[in-house]
Amino acid sequence: MSGIASRRAAEEVIRAGNVKVNGKVVEDLGTQVDPSVDTVTVRGKRVAIAEHMLYILMNKPKDYITTAKDEKERRTVYELITIKERVFPIGRLDRNTTGVLLFTNDGFLATKLMHPSSEVKKIYHVSLDHSLEEDHRDKLQKGIYLEDGKTAPASIEPIPGTKNKEIVVTIHEGRNRQVRRMFETLGYEIMKLHRVSYGGVTADGLARGKWRFLTDPEIKRLKLLVEKSKTSKPKSVKVLSTALKQRIALAKAK
Ligand code: URA
Repeated sequence: MSGIASRRAAEEVIRAGNVKVNGKVVEDLGTQVDPSVDTVTVRGKRVAIAEHMLYILMNKPKDYITTAKDEKERRTVYELITIKERVFPIGRLDRNTTGVLLFTNDGFLATKLMHPSSEVKKIYHVSLDHSLEEDHRDKLQKGIYLEDGKTAPASIEPIPGTKNKEIVVTIHEGRNRQVRRMFETLGYEIMKLHRVSYGGVTADGLARGKWRFLTDPEIKRLKLLVEKSKTSKPKSVKVLSTALKQRIALAKAK
């Protein structure tokens, strides 16, 4: 119970008749409440009840939009999530971007992860319409001017054996359509855009269009990321490991 430190302390307060749910004194220690509809008071004061926190990973397919409702009746990512609790996307993916999309009802963590100061790493696999030129790669790595300002340094790693048309891009900003705009500004068209990882969480083993709950280590990892960001802010993103590049290339070849 919110504001009451331990289960034993909570039970004592209930036994003493100090807890009411919707105006009725609670007698049963196992009484269940629904935080979205029930009003709980302790000694006459309303208290907030901790909601069950949900953390979800989706491997987003193409042709779904990241919104709850669409005026044009296009398909939305919510059509793919089969739970009744309300969860919100942590950032968005464009309609035709595929890959890692996280959802939660933990507003605190979501806000922190999306805040630019957290500098959460997002890794994308980009398929271009023509080969990336070396000087363009350089520009993108250093930061490029878009209409909403200069982008932060990024890692731009062509995948070997793809004639520089398949690129692994790592950024830690989350501006609207950022990756597409970065390449469009230099005259490239993005044929495919896939998010491989968000804050280290990947959709490995999860089929396109499917979702699952995050594991405890994944949740811990995300929480650690936002805690760390308060003290240490990396100024540049690390270059991707060869192993990850190979995995992406292999997945592509399948
Ligand atoms: N950058 C984009 O351009 N689109 C996305 O969906 C995600 C990042």
